[in-house]
Amino acid sequence: MDNFSFYNPTRIVFGKGTIAELDNLIPKTAKILLIYGGGSIKKNGVYEQVMAALGKRKVTEFEGIEPNPFYETCLDAVKIIKQKKIDFLLPVGGGSVIDATKFIAAATFYDGKDTWDILSMQSEVKHAVSFGCVLTLPATGSEMNRGAVITKAETKEKLAFHSDECFPLFSILDPETTYSLPKRQITNGIVDTFVHVIEQYCTFPKRNQLSDRFAESILQTLVEEGSKVMKNPTDYDIKANLMWAATMALNGLIACGQPEDWATHMIGHELTAFYDIDHGVTLSIVLPGLLRVMKKDKLDKLAQLATRVFGISEGTRSERADKAILAIERFFRTVGAPTHLSDVNLDASCIDPIVERFKERGWKLGEKQNINPLKIREILQNRL
Ligand code: NZQ
Ligand code: ZN
Repeated sequence: MDNFSFYNPTRIVFGKGTIAELDNLIPKTAKILLIYGGGSIKKNGVYEQVMAALGKRKVTEFEGIEPNPFYETCLDAVKIIKQKKIDFLLPVGGGSVIDATKFIAAATFYDGKDTWDILSMQSEVKHAVSFGCVLTLPATGSEMNRGAVITKAETKEKLAFHSDECFPLFSILDPETTYSLPKRQITNGIVDTFVHVIEQYCTFPKRNQLSDRFAESILQTLVEEGSKVMKNPTDYDIKANLMWAATMALNGLIACGQPEDWATHMIGHELTAFYDIDHGVTLSIVLPGLLRVMKKDKLDKLAQLATRVFGISEGTRSERADKAILAIERFFRTVGAPTHLSDVNLDASCIDPIVERFKERGWKLGEKQNINPLKIREILQNRL
């Protein structure tokens, strides 16, 4: 097992009717910026619940955070915070709204020249505006982690940053808020959660029994509940299990003492940046290709995954690894996720710009830092 340091200060308030808890979680004197997306919260009753809980507190609204949030939009929010002397941010929505809030919180107090440096140069975030979240889309884990992913529309760059200053103070997770999700977003959330676990699990063995089993239990939960949810989108317990799984998949816990990959995400971010493909969809397309191309390096964990998650006990390690990849691909299709570039109307011409970008950046990806631009090309060609 590798050495690790685990820190997570975010309070989770989980369950039916918990939005009312905002009244106890936010100071009465707070000057709040309520941040949300394209308006889903105004159609499903979440906005009313939030406003009722906030009561007489001073609230300014910032609407219009896009999916895969834009840096440019975040800067508009920073201006409002400074003008109105806002001291508390309340994102209500999915990962994009929460990620945007993290960047806005960090950019408000940034004392360097250009706030884009937080993303492009990983400049240190020394302080951020306090915030707590109301989550409406289980997927990213952003509600209980220190990361955010922001896109610069001008240059089509999608980059991440991480800071301990950007842990939410609290996150409210009411599974009933997810009843209004379109099928496409339920699918995206299941795939995103699944791939977060795989990125922290499917590397090489470290005799890390507990972290392995935490990861496998999340994957099993996704396979069991994920195959039921499309027929029962308003079943509270199915939705509650999926919501808790998404949070636990990326709050630091299952990464303790493990090597991590993240190459599927890095390649996926480029598919979103260049071709505006949903985050979850990029992952269900890239992952099966990556596992095939990197099979040798991941053989032991793939075979373990086959047996422990999909119940495949027959065959050699190599045969079980192949069956695990097929089972993952089949699971993605069961929940309605695309698995090939052609499913989203992309052809071979989409590959060069992505490979070129990784060449320019000189990044080496994967748990062994051996996924180079040539391998990235091979992975994407596998998905045509
Ligand atoms: O904008 P509104 O109107 O709210 O609609 C949203 C949006 O159109 C809608 N939606 C959300 N909750 C809903 C709902 N519609 C009906 N009912 C509800 N209850 O869903 C659409 C997608 O929302 P978005 O927030 O973009 O989705 P998601 O949560 O999947 O977030 C994706 C973003 O998170 C980043 C991704 O890269 C992407 O930019 N990620 C963040 C991570 C992190 N911070 O740790 C890790 C992830 O790997 C990921 O990279
Ligand atoms: Zn993700």
